Amino acid sequence: MFHTKKIAALAMGAALVVTLAACSTGRGGAGSDGAGDAAGSKAGALVGIAMPTKVDQRWIQDGNNVEKFLQKAGYKTDLEYANNDIPTQAKQIESMITKGAKVLVIASIDGGALGQQLDDAKAAGVKVISYDRLLTGDANVDYYATFDNFKVGVLQANSLLTGLGYLDDSGTKTGKTGPWHVELFAGSPDDNNATFFYNGAMSVLKPLIDDGTLVVTSGQTAFNQIAIQGWDPATAKKRMDDLLAKSYSTGSTKLDGILSPYDGLSDGIIAALESGGYKVGAADWPVITGQDAEVASVKQIIAGSQYSTIFKDTRKLATQAVAMTEAVLKGDTPEVNDTKSYNNGKKVVPTFLLPPVVVTKANYQKELIDSGYYTPSDLK
Ligand code: BGC
Repeated sequence: MFHTKKIAALAMGAALVVTLAACSTGRGGAGSDGAGDAAGSKAGALVGIAMPTKVDQRWIQDGNNVEKFLQKAGYKTDLEYANNDIPTQAKQIESMITKGAKVLVIASIDGGALGQQLDDAKAAGVKVISYDRLLTGDANVDYYATFDNFKVGVLQANSLLTGLGYLDDSGTKTGKTGPWHVELFAGSPDDNNATFFYNGAMSVLKPLIDDGTLVVTSGQTAFNQIAIQGWDPATAKKRMDDLLAKSYSTGSTKLDGILSPYDGLSDGIIAALESGGYKVGAADWPVITGQDAEVASVKQIIAGSQYSTIFKDTRKLATQAVAMTEAVLKGDTPEVNDTKSYNNGKKVVPTFLLPPVVVTKANYQKELIDSGYYTPSDLK
């Protein structure tokens, strides 16, 4: 539903963020438990949950799951969405601290823009858990729960290679040598994850670009050339429009594949291809990757306009963030499994990494339906 609306918004050239983003919803209790409570008296404490936007289904699922699991464990919650607006998120976090939250679970918009709020949290004795996206440039980040973001990029690149026919479904080389013409997209520079996705993908693709198996016709392979500010689908559409016009308009070069790091950008890319005269299902329709397994994108995978996505089970991430929250409230040390990868510029943040999973037409049933993440009717 969200993506259908997104495509419509793209088609109309509308500013979809403005059109779609729902206003922030404050839910849950707002009572103060007093800043000086002993660890043992923190049962029922207020936890602030700051989410970036409702444009994407994933953040709605993340927010709802964290809220639900915390409430089930007996905590009060204040769940806020910031409409992808950095000052709004900063204000929401300030308000959570004022209301007496004992822990903040934050999925940031710009990971480096919340320094003041993190300092205020520290001063008020509030613990901070970075959710999915790393909070950067500040030491007051206690723990980080996320997926293996480098691996996400590796999986995206490998699925591009499978779609192109360089690898088979088991990841073994088929013996086909290409060359294949591809274009690369990356995420928002203010999101620490974006460089992890890019570095993971390039660890697979760069050797093949270097040996000529893959040809990036535009020549644009550096992160700053291919990054899409704010993960904005309309910006991705515009960049794809430009690439088609500049590098693929003569008909002599066939565009075989596009590395897209996120389903929303894939939507913009698909919209550009369609407006450029490409037809879904035709022999020249390129392989397109994605991320988040959004309902609309899984439908696109079933229909063939998108080749793959990355499924990051938000139930598992929420469970992990809630386990971290409970541990810090009880004065325990949360379980982590990575203590070296996520240096936020001030400290290495102890992290729990969950495994991402590639989803294509071949395995969506098993990964998304059999696992109970979606019902068959969600994907109709
Ligand atoms: C998340 C991805 C998401 C992207 C755009 C990243 O930080 O890890 O799951 O696709 O933001 O929302």
